[in-house]
Amino acid sequence: MRFGIIGAGPIGTTIANKLFMNRHDVKIADARGIERLEGKEIAGTPVSVEDEIKNIDVLIVSIPFHAMPSIRSIVDKAGEEVIVVDTSNYYPFRDNKVEEIEAGKVESVWVANQLGRPIIKAFNNQLAYTLENKGTLEGTSDRIAMAVAGNDLSQKQIIMDVVNELGFDAIDSGSLSDSWRQQPGTPAYCTELTKEELTEALKRANKEKSPFLRDKVLGNFSAEFTHEDIVKLNRETYNSYLRGNSN
Ligand SMILES: NC(=O)c1ccc[n+]([C@@H]2O[C@H](COP(=O)([O-])OP(=O)(O)OC[C@H]3O[C@@H](n4cnc5c(N)ncnc54)[C@H](OP(=O)(O)O)[C@@H]3O)[C@@H](O)[C@H]2O)c1
Repeated sequence: MRFGIIGAGPIGTTIANKLFMNRHDVKIADARGIERLEGKEIAGTPVSVEDEIKNIDVLIVSIPFHAMPSIRSIVDKAGEEVIVVDTSNYYPFRDNKVEEIEAGKVESVWVANQLGRPIIKAFNNQLAYTLENKGTLEGTSDRIAMAVAGNDLSQKQIIMDVVNELGFDAIDSGSLSDSWRQQPGTPAYCTELTKEELTEALKRANKEKSPFLRDKVLGNFSAEFTHEDIVKLNRETYNSYLRGNSN
């Protein structure tokens, strides 16, 4: 397949590397100019955003949440048949407070509104380290799962197949409006669960409590943490409340 990726951070570059290794056509662009790709280790072809949106099947948008409105004009130029995938997560300390989100709008519904077209939400509920290092072959025991949400079932299936190809079991987490269940602060978020565990975690999410729990993790975060420490903190925080433990 032919992929375009906007955003060359840890998520965008890891997806690019993995797709490239799987012999897909991959182009990667930086929304603020091709010169910003210089010095980055990137698989695939570095291009401008104008070249990026031509002749692709899938456009993966992997930029900070707050920057989404800035790419509307370029996404507008992508063909109607192009599947647009959003990997973003909202963190108010980093993305500036978005009142609609604070009032309860689902993050990827907001992104779809900013981009002016339907999107599939994927690759947001695992850390970049997990995506890069913890993918395994289909059928491996304890294979980590990723949630994929969206309204168009055939587009969603295509992206679920891509997730599977890149080393993770894909779980259909419902429509875009349901995708709050995989946002920061939920039991599904960056907790490295198996397919069965993730299915259960999505059911147990609590929309009202998740911003509080997201911020609680940030409050307990330390720069000294290893990857495993971060996953442990997420698991303990996002699941403890749900077991009735409000500490
Ligand atoms: N990192 C994770 O573990 C993780 C996990 C799941 C989901 N996500 C989400 O996935 C998205 C990408 O995250 P990331 O950690 O890979 O990288 P990131 O730090 O969000 O940066 C991604 C790309 O966006 C560019 N960028 C930064 N500010 C921008 C702006 N104002 N306008 C346009 N482009 C801008 C960066 O360019 P420069 O490099 O030149 O700054 C980089 O190419 C985010 O929405 C994030 O919340 C991240």
